[in-house]
Parts: sequence; C-alpha cells; structure tokens
Amino acid sequence: MDAPHVNVRRPALLFARQFLANPRRIGSLIPSSRPLVSRMLAGVDWTQVETAVEFGPGTGVVTRALLARMRPDARLIAFEINPAFATYLARSIADPRLLVLPVSAEQVAEHVPGGCDVAISSLPFSIMPREVRGRILAATASVLNPGAPLIGYQYSPAFLAELRGAYPDVGVRFEPRNWPPAFVFTARK
Ligand SMILES: C[S@@+](CC[C@H](N)C(=O)[O-])C[C@H]1O[C@@H](n2cnc3c(N)ncnc32)[C@H](O)[C@@H]1O
Repeated sequence: MDAPHVNVRRPALLFARQFLANPRRIGSLIPSSRPLVSRMLAGVDWTQVETAVEFGPGTGVVTRALLARMRPDARLIAFEINPAFATYLARSIADPRLLVLPVSAEQVAEHVPGGCDVAISSLPFSIMPREVRGRILAATASVLNPGAPLIGYQYSPAFLAELRGAYPDVGVRFEPRNWPPAFVFTARK
C-alpha cells in the first residue's frame, strides 16, 4: 500500500483533519497539552525503563516527551492505527530508539514478546467499541513486566470502573490544563 500524502510541516492541520475524518478513533480535535503530557510521564523512573510502548501517538506530542526522558539505550515501540499519523511520525522523528508500527494496540503482545516496563496510552478508550478496549487491556496486561504501569488519560471518568475490573490497582489524578480537562490514570495488574 502507498504511504498517504502527509505535510510534515503542518502537524496541527493534519491532526484536525484526521479528527474530522474519524472523530471516534481520534477522540480529540487538538493534541494533548504540555501539562497533561508532563503529568502522564511524571511518576515514572525513566532510568529503569528499557522498553516502553506507546498507544495512539498521533502527531507525536507524547512520543517526543518520552524520547526526551528515556535512556540512550532504551527503545520505544509505538502503535498507531491511523496511516497518516504513522507516516508523519516516521518522517518527522528521526530517533533510532523509536519504532512506529501502523497497527492496533490490540496486537501489542505479538510485537513486544519480551515484555515492557511501561505502557503509555492516549487511546480514546471511552468511545471505542467495548470488545476492542477489552482486547487492548488484556493484551497490555500480558506484556507489562511485574510492577510496570499502564498510564493514560480520559476525558470522562466513566471508563475507570471498567479499568479497575481489569487492573486492581488504579490511581487517578485530574489535569485541568488541557482541552478538554482530563483524568490521568496509572494502572497496575
Ligand atoms: C486523542 S489522539 C492522541 C494523540 C496524541 N498522543 C496526543 O496525546 O495528542 C488518539 C490516537 O489514538 C489512535 N488510535 C485509536 N485507536 C487506536 C488503536 N486501536 N490502536 C492504536 N492507535 C489507536 C488514533 O489514531 C489517535 O492517533
């Protein structure tokens, strides 16, 4: 399949266009704010992370912050189901630690057989089909090393009860400096 045409100099436009084309998959008209990204990544000791996975990198606002924190010998495996975003990321971030896979997060276990030390999600869990999020939560639990967290955000707390059913240890913090304001969760199995 040919790579989609992507203007790497207009990430904000690319993001908005992809949202308008498929709002339920993207979940937001604009990328996450800096305060939200900082809150998501703050509780992790990045010196201990060898392998991280990212779900739904979009235009890479979280990806870049992750790479800035990760060790030179670490690796980041990003799962992005949107072909335009996957192409944009591959063209705009030249970092040998990053591997962008244009597949669903449901397939994480096939691509991370050695396990991971943290999983960072921007997925719109609340508005995706229940069976898809169930598969993602189960597959992620199977690759998280002991004690490793799944960290993500949602705009509604409704999903958190379901998350607690799959991951017994869930902490939640609120970040108002984002549009929309977001709940940041840290889940351990
Ligand atoms: C709200 S955007 C987040 C983009 C960026 N990380 C941010 O925080 O601004 C959600 C992203 O999840 C991606 N996505 C949705 N379902 C997915 C799935 N099943 N697997 C991988 N990516 C998915 C969308 O294509 C989109 O890039």
